[in-house]
Amino acid sequence: MLTCPRTPESFEQRFERRALEVTGVRLAPGWLQRASACFPSVMRECSVASREELEALLLGDRAGATRLVERLVGEVTVKETRLFRDAPQMRLLRRVVLPEAREVGERRGTPVRLWSAGCATGEEAYSLAMLAAEEFSHSGAGAFTVVGTDISASAVAHARRGVYRHRSAALGVEEEFEPLVDRYTRTDADGATIIEPELRSQVRFAVHNLIAGPRMSGQDVVLCRNVLVYLPREAQATLVSRLWDSLHPGGWLLTGEADLLHLVCNDFERWSHPSATLYRKPLDAGTGREGGGLRG
Ligand SMILES: C[S@@+](CC[C@H](N)C(=O)[O-])C[C@H]1O[C@@H](n2cnc3c(N)ncnc32)[C@H](O)[C@@H]1O
Repeated sequence: MLTCPRTPESFEQRFERRALEVTGVRLAPGWLQRASACFPSVMRECSVASREELEALLLGDRAGATRLVERLVGEVTVKETRLFRDAPQMRLLRRVVLPEAREVGERRGTPVRLWSAGCATGEEAYSLAMLAAEEFSHSGAGAFTVVGTDISASAVAHARRGVYRHRSAALGVEEEFEPLVDRYTRTDADGATIIEPELRSQVRFAVHNLIAGPRMSGQDVVLCRNVLVYLPREAQATLVSRLWDSLHPGGWLLTGEADLLHLVCNDFERWSHPSATLYRKPLDAGTGREGGGLRG
């Protein structure tokens, strides 16, 4: 019987599989063309002379290959974000979550830890920091920490600068949050929104892969918004399990409206408000994941 010879897989197909394994991200059509723009700089950094050598490096298991895969995936992820995106949830953060977290931190006697996981260019982490700066204004220095992380090195570099030239950064901020934007940012002559240095110094940013990077722990509030929606079900389950482990019992998880956390995990308590849903790790949960609940 004749068998058709199989066409060898292209670099594009093999890299897509590698990206899925390493980052959980299913690359969208056209990613290769967009990623190619950074190939020359990556080749210089890795002292690689040809495109073929770069492709072999990306698909091989040499030290540093994983980092390189994360780097390229980070170039092509969707990074849409803005200050105080999702006002109803930001209101709940201000009125319910942060006051409660402050009391917990005071009882515990250690800083309240706030994490924007998948922060893109940083607007979400700065929104969180503005709300925390207000809530903790009488608590003294060091009462809270804010960390913003993303897989994209270029987005994290942008976040660290805290300068937003695109109009969308502060576009559509609801009236309730405008005084905070006025207090903690300024607008330069070209119309860019610039985060004030003091607030900027209160937020630490890091490049971090949520699926396979170092595990976070001891968080009181995690915002992981509009990240799950881009991942296939298996990677969603991995991510939610890691977020669970990162939280203190009683800690809060805020996801985006389209993230559909309940499809992969029912262990969190759901706090449903008319305008938004919050998730909370039960107070009687251990600090580590104790099996069960995760699906997919
Ligand atoms: C649409 S943005 C969301 C930004 C912000 N959280 C918001 O809701 O406004 C999604 C971000 O998730 C990041 N991301 C996707 N997969 C990731 C992974 N495996 N590890 C870390 N970040 C990831 C992307 O780089 C992107 O910046």
